[in-house]
Amino acid sequence: MAVTKAPEDAYTAEPFVPDRGGLTALRKAAADCRGCPLHRDATQTVFGAGATDARVMLVGEQPGDQEDRQGKPFVGPAGKLLDRALQEAGLDPADAYVTNAVKHFKFTRAEPRKRRIHKAPSLREMTACGPWLAAELAVVEPELIVVLGATAGKALLGSSFRVTQVRGTVLEEEIHGRPERLVPTVHPSAVLRADDREGAYQGLVADLKVAARALG
Ligand code: URA
Ligand code: SF4
Repeated sequence: MAVTKAPEDAYTAEPFVPDRGGLTALRKAAADCRGCPLHRDATQTVFGAGATDARVMLVGEQPGDQEDRQGKPFVGPAGKLLDRALQEAGLDPADAYVTNAVKHFKFTRAEPRKRRIHKAPSLREMTACGPWLAAELAVVEPELIVVLGATAGKALLGSSFRVTQVRGTVLEEEIHGRPERLVPTVHPSAVLRADDREGAYQGLVADLKVAARALG
């Protein structure tokens, strides 16, 4: 008998997402998500963190090595830089809900047992994980979304998103059926990798100041 394999474009978190119970129920259910293959090699689901009534939601790409180990978003080097930039822009990190477009760490290893190297999620994985982000948006109802980099931008605004074209501006778009205001900026990991790290950091802070002003 032929082994039937689900077509890859059938990857979706949808059947795992509860339709009631708030963030607590979402986080609990997400821990068992099998919506795409990324759960297999990662340590755990890294769900969003922050208060249900947060005014601003920050959306990154996917958990990194530290986040995968600790089970919390933005606790590694990129997160430390982001916290510093938020504070400098006048946004309190403690008042933000922080999450990622994709909830499992995707990585490769140069050799077995060697360091895990971040690998960008595919469009298919981003799409599969989208129902979690949609559910977080529906529960938190942030006044503003800060889009951190290209993956978050593509996940929220479609594959034609270009961070360089729209960073530091306030966009108004319908997302998952609701009108949202968004401020895109670069990903904090891109700042860490930049040749001109100080310049890239100041650019991030300037964009976050636009977000702070938009929040009022
Ligand atoms: N980079 C991200 O996009 N998200 C994290 O949680 C950590 C690093
Ligand atoms: Fe589910 Fe998202 Fe993890 Fe894929 S990456 S298994 S869709 S939580």
